[in-house]
Amino acid sequence: MLCEEAGRILAKAKFAIAFTGAGISAESGVPTFRDANGLWRNYKPEELATPEAFRRNPKLVWEFYKWRMRLIAKARPNRAHLALARLEKMGIIKAVITQNVDDLHREAGTENLIELHGNIFRVRCTSCAYRENLKESGRLEEFLTSEDLPRCPRCGSLLRPDVVWFGEPLPQDALERAFELASKADVVLVIGTSGVVYPAAYIPYVVKEHGGRVIEINPKRSGITPIADVFIPKPAGEGMEGILRGVEAFLGGKGSDHQRRK
Ligand code: OAD
Ligand code: ZN
Repeated sequence: MLCEEAGRILAKAKFAIAFTGAGISAESGVPTFRDANGLWRNYKPEELATPEAFRRNPKLVWEFYKWRMRLIAKARPNRAHLALARLEKMGIIKAVITQNVDDLHREAGTENLIELHGNIFRVRCTSCAYRENLKESGRLEEFLTSEDLPRCPRCGSLLRPDVVWFGEPLPQDALERAFELASKADVVLVIGTSGVVYPAAYIPYVVKEHGGRVIEINPKRSGITPIADVFIPKPAGEGMEGILRGVEAFLGGKGSDHQRRK
C-alpha cells in the first residue's frame, strides 16, 4: 500500500530527486555510522575523521581509511541502488544526492550523482591541488598494499582521503547544486539516513519548504520522518523494489487506460 502510494507520487512527479545515506548501502555489507554496529559506536570520530586527528596521527587515520576502502572495494551495489538507477533511466529520478562516499550509486549506473561528503576512492594533496581517483588510475591495489604514508607525486606532501571530515565545509559546488535541485524538486525520496548531519540533512527540508513531498524509506524513524508524507518502514532493498513495482504498476495501468480510451 505504502509502496504503491509512493510509486504513484513518483510516477506523477515532474522533478523527483533522491537523497541517500549509509542505510542504502547496509545491505551491500558497508557498515553505517550510528546503528547498533555502526562505525561511530565502535570508533571515536574525533580520533579518525577530523583534520586535527590527521595532523596528530596520519598513520592511524590512513589505517582506518584503507580498511574502509578495502571493505567498500569488495561491496557491490544492492537492489536499492539498482532500483534507483532504473528510476533515473526511466526519467523519473533526475538526480541522486548522497552523503555516502562508497561509489555504489555510480557502480549501479546512476549518472547524475552529487556526492556531498566526497568519495573514498579519491585522494588529494594536503598542500597542492593534486587529486587522484585510485579506481580510475588503476592504482587502488598498489595503494592499499603499500605500508608507507601516501605522498603527493607532484610535491611530496602527504595525501589525504578526499572525503569531508567533521568540522570541515562541504565541497561548495556539490552543496550549491544540491540545494538548487532541492529547491526545484517536487518530490524527494529519502533513503537510509539518520538525518542528523548538517548541512546535508537540510535537503529534504528545503524540498518540503518549497512545497515538494517527502517519501522516506528507513526501517527506523529518523530526523526526516516528522516531515515525511509517506514513510515506508522497511530496509532499502525491499522498499525500493516495492516502489519500483508501484511506479511500473501506475504507468502500466495508465498506459492500458490510455489504450482503452483510444
Ligand atoms: P547513519 O549511520 O547516521 O544512519 C544510517 C541510517 O540508515 C539509520 O537511520 C538507519 O535506521 C538506516 N538503516 C539501517 N539499515 C538500513 C537498511 N537496510 N535500509 C535502509 N535504511 C537503513 O548514516 P548517515 O545518515 O548516512 O559523514 O550519516 C550521515 C553522515 O554521518 C555520513 O555521511 C558520515 C557520518 O559521520 C561524513 O563522513 C562526513
Ligand atoms: Zn601536492
